This record gives sequence, structure tokens and C-alpha cells, in this order.
Amino acid sequence: VIDTDAGTDTSVEHEGPTFPEVWGAPVLEDENPATDIVEVTLRAEEKTVTLADGLDVDMYTYNGSFPGPILQAQVGQTVIVHFENALPEETTVHWHGLRIPDEMDGNPRIQNPVQPGESFTYEFVVEDAASYWYHPHVRENEQIEKGLYGLFIVHGEDEPEFDRERFLTIDDILIDQNGDLPPFLQSHPEIMHGRSGNALLNNGSLDVVSFSVDQNDVERWRLVNPANARTMKLELEGASWRVIGTDGGLLPEPYETDRIVLPVGQRFDVEVVYDQPGTVTLNSMVLVRNDAGEIVEEAFPIYEAEVAASDAEPRTVELPEVTLPTAEPTRSETIEFDVGQDTFGNTVWMLNGKAHSNDPLFTFGYGEVVRIKLRNNAGPEHPFHLHGNFFTVVNDGRAWTNQPGLKDTVLVPGMDEVEIIAYFDNPGQWMAHCHILEHAKLGMMSEIIVE
Ligand code: C2O
Ligand code: CU
Repeated sequence: VIDTDAGTDTSVEHEGPTFPEVWGAPVLEDENPATDIVEVTLRAEEKTVTLADGLDVDMYTYNGSFPGPILQAQVGQTVIVHFENALPEETTVHWHGLRIPDEMDGNPRIQNPVQPGESFTYEFVVEDAASYWYHPHVRENEQIEKGLYGLFIVHGEDEPEFDRERFLTIDDILIDQNGDLPPFLQSHPEIMHGRSGNALLNNGSLDVVSFSVDQNDVERWRLVNPANARTMKLELEGASWRVIGTDGGLLPEPYETDRIVLPVGQRFDVEVVYDQPGTVTLNSMVLVRNDAGEIVEEAFPIYEAEVAASDAEPRTVELPEVTLPTAEPTRSETIEFDVGQDTFGNTVWMLNGKAHSNDPLFTFGYGEVVRIKLRNNAGPEHPFHLHGNFFTVVNDGRAWTNQPGLKDTVLVPGMDEVEIIAYFDNPGQWMAHCHILEHAKLGMMSEIIVE
């Protein structure tokens, strides 16, 4: 269980940008005095983690911390990560959402996975201010469920100033009565819908995570859903919030919403204004079966804030001006999402008719802007994720397509479709896959080439 009221001191000993404190996980220490370099050590290792009082679970961690430590850098800085693999199995680190060179992206088709006891140095320049996350790209459905993920914040030069920043991981985990993680991909529901947890897991805690704030404090929450499969539906009680950013950074126009739908892989940055004293609750809305056997939605509190009355004046946080790309698409393509069977009768998940395709879905020219229809031909939903490049979601008037801003992940509901406009401005060999990790594992994994 995390120390809920301790901020983390991120002040660095050397010259260079200083970043606001961020609550939620320890911050990786920059070992390099140069102002334009952030150099850190990240070590994947086995660890027994206390998820709740009396519940110790054998997990994987980065640097012994769950969630993994926060990596922070400023736009333009070079990030050097000395990665050590102390796990009993091979792995890579993928920097989800970052536009970096493909050989640094953790793609096991490019980078030979890091073997147990070996190391690899990742080095890249960060270009876009936003909330990202990192996780392995080898046996993802097991390694991420076991605890390998952390937040990666890229700060812009004119970030808005909040009273506090928090990093909230909205996760779930499947645990059996002995406190173990049951075997992977053994059940039909897990193969069809991905592995859903039986407990909600927030910043490494199965219990409600609480903190104290003052009335009229304004906070920035960076939300990430690192679950294997569960789309999180979040509602806030007792304070007001609005969405100010998403996968690709701050939005030109923040928007208010009662509910944030957060598919796996995606991020939202929200501004929370504690406009009244009392208790604030962040609820995860989950479908459950009630006593009468009906499926109903129930609110499960996951974070709680005690707001102390204060005479501080309400304040408005200035947000920087943001513009989104406006280039029109010059080409249209379709990606079909299907389920099928291999020659042994096992379920496979496919993109454009192929499971684990070795042929890329498409080859696009550098700078090409492409309208892509994502067509889901089966019932289960698919959060589609594109590496190394951003896209926008075409708002066709349906509520869930109203998703402004740059994205790297978008939810395609069952038997439905969504259109995106992708800006292929980062050359390379880019993974394109469903972020339901079981679907990816069972074939819904391909690549797009930008040359
Ligand atoms: Cu978050 Cu291909 O990954
Ligand atoms: Cu999927």
C-alpha cells in the first residue's frame, strides 16, 4: 500500500528544468548533471508486493516499485535509460505513445529481447509534452499483469501550474484465494474478452487510496489504464473536473464530462477543482450481477480525498494555447478486426484477416496523412494502438467518437466502426495492435511501415 500523503521530491542537484512534484509513485532520479540529458537506471525484477493488508503477491516490478517509478523529462531532452533485466525471462521496454526511433521502441521484431541478467540502453529525444507510460512488449499479457508499468511524463516549456499533480493508475488484477495470479489464457472468457481482474488496483493498492487537500485547490491528474482488458468508466463525486489533455498532450479546448471512459492503453489528463469541503470520491463503474441475477452498474470507490474548508479564493489555472494538425488525408484505408480459428481449432484474433502477421498492414510514405476506418466484425471491443505516430478520432456525432486531441489508442466497440486520421510523420517499422493484451497475444498484432 502506498504512502498516500507523501509527495515525491523531484528537485535535481544539477542545472536544468525542474519539474513539479508528482504524487503516485517514486520519481526516477536523473543521474546525469548535463542539462539536456536525463539519464536513469531501470531494473525489472521479481518482488513480493503488498497489495492490501495481509495480501502479499509475487509480482514483477521496475526498481522494486509498483507502479513503476515515474520517468520525467522536458521536450527536447535526451533520455538515456540503462535497463537491466533481473527477471527470469526475456523482456523489452516499450515507451507507449512516444514518437521516438523505432529501434528504441521495445518492438521485439526489431530489438532482440533483453535476456535474463542482461542489459540494454535506450536512448532517444522526447518531442511532445504529454502523459505516456512504459511497459514490456514481450509476453505482455503476463508481464504487465504482474506489475511491469510506469508513467512517463514529458513536460512542455509552458506547463500550467497546479497546486498539485497526481499520477493515477486505474487497473485491475485477477487473484485467486491463495493470493496468486491464476494461469494465463486458460479460460474461454479470457481468450474472448481478455483477462479481467476480480479486484480493482489503484496505484498498487486494492484498498481505496486516500489523500487530503484544501478547498479550492486545483490539481492535475494524469490517468492511465494499464489493465490487460477492462475499459474503465470513471465518475467523480464531490468536486468538479474537466478533461484538459489526452494521449498526445493538452487539448485546444478542455471539456467537461460526467464520465470518463478510459480504455486500456489510453491516458487522460484532468483538472480537478475542489470547489467544496467534504469528501470527494473517484468511482470506477463496474457491471456486476445483483442478488436478483440482473446485470447492473455499481460504483466502486477507488480514490478518496478529504477536502478541508478554506477561505482561499477560487482560482483559474491558465492553460497554454494548443493547436492540432490540420492536414487533410490524401489516402483512405480500412483495418478489419476479426476473430477466427487456426488449423488446430484455437481462437485467433486477426487484423485484415491475418494473425501475428509478418507482412505489414500498410506501407505509407513519410508525412502521409491517412484516413483509416477501423471496422470491428465481432462482439468484443478492441482498443486499437498505433506506435510511434499520433492520430485524431473523427467525430461523427456519436457520443464515444467525441474524443478531441491526439491519440495513440482508440476504442473500437463490438460490431461497430470508428474512423481515425493518422499523421505518419515518424519513419520506421511500427507495431499496430489491439491493446487487450490477450487479443494481441492471440494474433491481433501487426505493423505499419512508414518510409
Ligand atoms: Cu502499450 Cu504496443 O503498446
Ligand atoms: Cu482486441
